[in-house]
Amino acid sequence: MSNTYDVIVIGAGPAGYVAAIRAAQHGKRVACIDAWKNNDGSTAFGGTCLNAGCIPSKALLESSELYERARHEFTTHGIGVGKVTLDLATMQQRRAGIVKQFTGGITALFKANGVTGLYGHGKLVTPGKVEYTPHDGQAEVLTGEHVILATGSTPVELKSVPFDGERIVDSWGALEFDQVPARLGVIGGGVIGLELGSVWKRLGAEVTVIEAMDDFLFMADQQIARDAQRQFRKQGLDIRLGAMVNGSDSTGNAVKLQYKDKKGSHELEVDKVIVSVGRRPFTENLLAEGTGVQLDERGFIVVDEECRTKVSGVWAIGDCVRGPMLAHKGSEEGIAVADLIAGSVAEVNYKVIPSVIYTAPEIAWVGKTEQELKKAGVRYKSGTFNFAANGRAKALEQATGFAKVLAAVDDDEILGVHIVGPMAGELIAEAVLAMEFSASAEDLQRTIHAHPTLSEALHEAALAVDKHAIHAIN
Ligand code: FAD
Ligand code: NAI
Repeated sequence: MSNTYDVIVIGAGPAGYVAAIRAAQHGKRVACIDAWKNNDGSTAFGGTCLNAGCIPSKALLESSELYERARHEFTTHGIGVGKVTLDLATMQQRRAGIVKQFTGGITALFKANGVTGLYGHGKLVTPGKVEYTPHDGQAEVLTGEHVILATGSTPVELKSVPFDGERIVDSWGALEFDQVPARLGVIGGGVIGLELGSVWKRLGAEVTVIEAMDDFLFMADQQIARDAQRQFRKQGLDIRLGAMVNGSDSTGNAVKLQYKDKKGSHELEVDKVIVSVGRRPFTENLLAEGTGVQLDERGFIVVDEECRTKVSGVWAIGDCVRGPMLAHKGSEEGIAVADLIAGSVAEVNYKVIPSVIYTAPEIAWVGKTEQELKKAGVRYKSGTFNFAANGRAKALEQATGFAKVLAAVDDDEILGVHIVGPMAGELIAEAVLAMEFSASAEDLQRTIHAHPTLSEALHEAALAVDKHAIHAIN
């Protein structure tokens, strides 16, 4: 094996592996080092996203939603299926199978693109030099003109509720339960809490979500968040807001969580706890002394708009740098950095990064929320359209929620799009494209949408911006 490369990538999550493939497509000699180990000791490329994040969570969300719909919705369609049963082992095997297929896919893509994939630990020794330690072998130094750091993130641990890997788990542990817990406590009502809380609720757990903030989904448009909260509560998710956990006791057969809210101190007894209070950048043992690469006060690698660190030839992308911790954000940074290394012009449009929460209903948005526009003093118009009046949503038996378009009063440019409802995560792509091209609400109004589709709700919301919705009273 040669140990000289044009580009060495440390980390093969969606940021790192995408950067590696793109750089190889530019004709660069690329190595990508990844330290991931599964619980059974096996190695795999793909990082958190493929192994323990996006992909396995969506597999379980889909399976659990089908289970829920088979039990509660099929009869509405006139379909009788007898007693619906749950075979969790098969459901989990399916999840694991999908993960294996996708992580194996990265290995195949590396091979096809000529990327040298290396399992083990990578450490930046000096600019241009990386120490590579295979899982079961001797360390060696690789040379690369450019080094891309893409080491991702790891769950935040709460001192008052330490992980024990058994009853108090992080999101990875929560994906791998082999039994449905009777009572599940979720600390943190953010994206992971809602997605994984929904999975286990649908499969039969009694789920209590303890969230520190007073506002539900404080980062989302609050009109959307209120609608979502109402629907989750209707589904039976017990969401307790403004509540801070300050202690736990897992010495007995159950876990006792102590928390405080405005009304005082409380105790909640559960069988399992998911701690999902955010993630932090992972850079342990990544940088030798004196590399010159800087970390900020929260541990993120400091980079500029183009993902350059303070050291020439050393770049950093994905969850280990500022910005939202999202797979597609990291991948876009990976593409941009590989293009810049190849001498092309490239940039990431940080203003137009979509967010999706894959619950039922889904929640998706791009651009500014109404509260952000108000705070910035921007004059805006708002149009909403309910899925209750959308033919396709009715046919799907999912006619809840709404789409909302925010546009500037001055020039009609779309400033934000927010959706709570069926397939919101798919529908938002149109809004992302529109905003990427600085479209106006009128551009969306004059774009022809197929009938009957869910996308018509977005069309009508754009019309509603000017009080021209056809299938609603403006
Ligand atoms: P990671 O995917 O974390 O990959 C980093 C890799 O680097 C890892 O394999 C790690 O082992 C390796 N590494 C670290 N240090 C070293 C070292 N020194 N040497 C070698 N290798 C090293 N995002 C979405 O956009 N959509 C979703 O639906 C979504 N769902 C999620 C669900 C869950 C449960 C979780 C936990 C996260 C989810 N995310 C989702 C977030 C998403 O997984 C991350 O944003 C994404 O994985 C970040 O990519 P990355 O490449 O920066 O880092
Ligand atoms: P999060 O930031 O989405 O939510 C954490 C929540 O925990 C916040 O609402 C916060 O107020 C609350 N919290 C913090 N400390 C608390 C405490 N002591 N007690 C009670 N509540 C507390 O983080 P989460 O859910 O852990 O996810 C991490 C990241 O992973 C997300 O920010 C997101 O970037 C990514 N992710 C993305 C997904 C998607 O795109 N669909 C799915 C899952 C994760």
